[in-house]
Amino acid sequence: MRIAVLGTGAVGRNVGGRLAELGHEVTLGTRDPEATRAREDYEEVPGAGLATFADAARDADLVVNATNGGATLAVLALAGAETLAGKVLVDLSNPLDFSRGMPPTLLVKDTDSLAEQVQRAYPDTRVVKTLNTMNNALMVHPETLAGGDHTTFVAGDDAEAKAKVSGLLAELGHRDVLDLGDLTGARGVEMILPLWVRLMGTLGTPHFQFKVVR
Ligand SMILES: NC(=O)c1ccc[n+]([C@@H]2O[C@H](COP(=O)([O-])OP(=O)(O)OC[C@H]3O[C@@H](n4cnc5c(N)ncnc54)[C@H](OP(=O)(O)O)[C@@H]3O)[C@@H](O)[C@H]2O)c1
Repeated sequence: MRIAVLGTGAVGRNVGGRLAELGHEVTLGTRDPEATRAREDYEEVPGAGLATFADAARDADLVVNATNGGATLAVLALAGAETLAGKVLVDLSNPLDFSRGMPPTLLVKDTDSLAEQVQRAYPDTRVVKTLNTMNNALMVHPETLAGGDHTTFVAGDDAEAKAKVSGLLAELGHRDVLDLGDLTGARGVEMILPLWVRLMGTLGTPHFQFKVVR
């Protein structure tokens, strides 16, 4: 698949790199490729290209949103509605607000979610929320914890899009994919972040996961 991973932070680079390793044609999206290459914290991702958000998304079969939650709507506006129309958008972002320090608060919650805001802004795009409830190392190598026996949530309005994303999750090694139904399911998985952040402090590591036993 041709996959655009929007985002050049640790998450975008890790997810993009793993998808490239798995044989996908990956382009990372950023505001300014030259400025990003010059960034001290930026490492080139083997096997993946780097382009503007719009150029990365243009020819993609599937788009991954790995951008800062507070910037997600601005980034997608740079990609453009026409470019995103009809595409599956995997949203793994979190609407975290660090402006008042730690712990972060949520930019949207309760009766809405970032994923739903994206879906409303781009009604012709098929948004699937997933992967936001785990650290990025586990997104790409779930087998490193409990042999991969932990839960990966998906939520979205389009059944075909969710099936496509579930296929990709299976390629990454996610064995327990739990479908929460329509995109309002994104509210719960975004609102689990205060617990996730607390657990990271309590356990002293981001290397843990949720398992729904049923
Ligand atoms: N860290 C984890 O393990 C983890 C786990 C689950 C979910 N997440 C979520 O994954 C997402 C990515 O996290 P991250 O830590 O890799 O990166 P990040 O620092 O949260 O976001 C980096 C990306 O956001 C873009 N961005 C930031 N401010 C922008 C602005 N004002 N306008 C346009 N673009 C802007 C950057 O664009 P440029 O490339 O142009 O700089 C960059 O591509 C976040 O939503 C995070 O909550 C993270």
